[in-house]
Amino acid sequence: MKKAILVLHGPNLNLLGSREPKIYGRLTLAELDRKIKRYGQARGVSVECRQSNHEGELIDALQTASQKGFAAVVFNPGAFTHYSIALRDAVSAISLPVIEVHLSNVHAREEFRRRSVIAPAARGQISGFGLQSYLLGIDAALGALRSRRNSPGARR
Ligand code: DQA
Repeated sequence: MKKAILVLHGPNLNLLGSREPKIYGRLTLAELDRKIKRYGQARGVSVECRQSNHEGELIDALQTASQKGFAAVVFNPGAFTHYSIALRDAVSAISLPVIEVHLSNVHAREEFRRRSVIAPAARGQISGFGLQSYLLGIDAALGALRSRRNSPGARR
């Protein structure tokens, strides 16, 4: 079966294209998703993209990702990054590798954005490269899956 990766976008990312374009660029979410899917296809992995403004829906998506056939998650938790312990617990609770990504460089912005409560539970964090953050996230997810195949005992 073909590998599948879930790309999960958190709150306010549905507004991409018009939301603070100096920070987040001019690509709409639909355009971003098309490019991410095309990138996945070229690497032999199918990619499904979902966005939600609701913490509980993001938790549900993480909890059900494995049973829906996804092998890894590329996750931009938006502002939840900085304070959602519930999302962090969901990332910790599942055995799939989760890669945290951000369009902007969260370390070069306001102080409160420097802290991610998700990052310690994620496989790693990629921040500051716009669309490229997601594409690097896909590559990181594929790398995590490859290394897991080589050492099946590893949890994530
Ligand atoms: C973001 C960074 C967060 O601090 C912010 O709240 C977002 C977007 C990013 O992709 O750069 O909504 O996750």
